[in-house]
Amino acid sequence: MPAQSPALTLIPRPTEAILRPGYFTLDADTSLRIGDGAEPAAELLRTLLTPATGLPLRPSPDGQFTLALDSGLGELGEEGYALTVDPHAVLLRAAHPTGLLHGIQTVRQLLPPATLSADPQRVTRWPLPCADITDVPRHPWRGAMLDVARHFQPVSYVRRYVDLLALHKISVFHLHLTDDQGWRMPVAAHPKLTEIGGHRAESQRGPAGSGTYDGIPHGGAYTRGELTDLVRYAAARGVTVVPEIEMPGHVRAALAAYPSLGNHPERTLDVWTRWGVCDTVLGVHDEVLDFCRGVLDEVMDVFPSPYIHLGGEECPTGEWTHSAAARERAAIEGLSGPEALHGWFLGKVGEHLVRNGRRPVGWAETGAELPAEFTVMTWRDPAHTLTAARRGHGVINAHHRATYLDYAQSDDPKEPQAQPGAVVDLRAVHAHDPVPEHADTEAAARVLGTQAQLWTEFVTTPAHIEYLTYPRLCALADRGWSGATDWTDFRSRLDGHTARLDALGVHHHP
Ligand code: ACM
Repeated sequence: MPAQSPALTLIPRPTEAILRPGYFTLDADTSLRIGDGAEPAAELLRTLLTPATGLPLRPSPDGQFTLALDSGLGELGEEGYALTVDPHAVLLRAAHPTGLLHGIQTVRQLLPPATLSADPQRVTRWPLPCADITDVPRHPWRGAMLDVARHFQPVSYVRRYVDLLALHKISVFHLHLTDDQGWRMPVAAHPKLTEIGGHRAESQRGPAGSGTYDGIPHGGAYTRGELTDLVRYAAARGVTVVPEIEMPGHVRAALAAYPSLGNHPERTLDVWTRWGVCDTVLGVHDEVLDFCRGVLDEVMDVFPSPYIHLGGEECPTGEWTHSAAARERAAIEGLSGPEALHGWFLGKVGEHLVRNGRRPVGWAETGAELPAEFTVMTWRDPAHTLTAARRGHGVINAHHRATYLDYAQSDDPKEPQAQPGAVVDLRAVHAHDPVPEHADTEAAARVLGTQAQLWTEFVTTPAHIEYLTYPRLCALADRGWSGATDWTDFRSRLDGHTARLDALGVHHHP
C-alpha cells in the first residue's frame, strides 16, 4: 500500500498521506487566499466550519490558507487534490473545482472532531496537523441510493444525508423518486402523479407476502423548487444527484394516477400498499412513450446530471402477453415476442435521453438485456458485472450481498426489522471489489465504480436510515475511492472516524 502515516484516520484513505511534526493553527486571524475559480470551495469551507468554530475565514490576498485551481495538476483528474499543511501555511490545490471540494472534506477530517459539531464550541484555536497529501479516487462512481418512494423523507433530511455523503467523498447521490408505493417528483404536465400517486392508504407490515397492514396513510412529494435547490446544494459539495424514474415496471403509483397508461385502462388501481414485485406495468402504446418522454423532459430540466436512471428491473411481462395490443406492438416492431417489449421500451425512452445529451442508466437483470447505450447497474449476481462490461456497457457494481444496506448488518435478533434474505456486515461491504476478479483490462476499465442501496420498505425514520447506512457506507466509500485497503487498517481508521460520526450526531450502528 502507498505511504500513509498510521496516526491519520482518514476515510476514505488518501492515495498518499504523510504526517509531519507540528500544526497549523486555525483561529480568528486565519484568512483565505482564494484563487480564481476557488470561491465555491472557500464558501464550502466557511459553511462547514462556521457552526462549531465561529471562525470568519475572511478572504485576503495574503491569507495563510490558500485555495487554488492549478491546471498543472491535470494528473489528479476531475476529483483529485493536493494538500500541504505547514506550521505557517496551508495550500490546497486541484486541477478542477470538485477536487478542491473533496480536499476540504479532508481538511475537516484532519481537524479535531468537535469542528464537525452543529453546536458552537468554546475553543478559539484549532490545530490542523502538518501533512502532505496527494489524493486521487480509483473510481469515478462512488454512489449512494436513497429510496424516498417507499418512505418519503423531507428535503431538510435529504440535505443532511447529502452532507454525510460529501464527508465520505461519495460522488453520486442516486435519488429513487418513483415506485409502486409512491411518486415523489412533481411533473407539471401530469399533476396527478403526486396528487394521487404521492399517497397510499397504508403499508404492509413485515416482508412481502405478509397479510397485515398498518392502517396508517403515507405520502409526500417534493416541490420542483426543493429539488432544484437540492441539486445545487449537492453540487456545492461535489455530489451529483442522479434521479431515478422507474419504468416500465414499479409504476403502480403512476397507474393509480393515470390508468390510461396501463394495460387495463378501465381498471382503477390503488397506489400499492404491499411490498414485492407488482404485476401491473406500463402499456406499450404511443401515449405511454409520449408520457415517459414528457416526464423525462421535466426531470432533465431539474437535474443537470449526465446520467438519468430509468429503473427497468423486475418488470413482469404477463400483462403484455395477455394484451392483444401489446402482442400486436411486438409484432409490428419485429420483436420475438411480448417479453422483448422490455428492452424495446427502455431503448425507445433511452434514445430520447441520448438525443438530449444524457445517458440512460438501468438496473441489470442479467447484464445482457439492456440496449447498448445504457450504463448498467448490476445487483443480482457478481457475474453480471463482467457480462455487462464485456458487452461494452459502463457498469456500476451494486451487488446486493455487498451494497444493499437494507439487509441487517448482523444476525443479532435485536437488529431492527430488515430486508429478509441476507446479512451484509461491515466486512462484506469492505471486501467488495467493484472490479470482477477475472476482468481483462478493457472490461475493468468499464467498471465505473460501486454504489450503496438503501431501499426503505422497512425504514421510516432518519435515525433508522443512519443506523443502516453508517458505518457501512464508510467501508464502501473507502473501497470506491482508495481501492483495496487492509481490513485492520480500515478498522483502525474507522475507530478514529467514529468520533467524527458522533460529533455529527449520526445514529450509527455500534
Ligand atoms: C432492485 O433491487 N430492485 C434493483
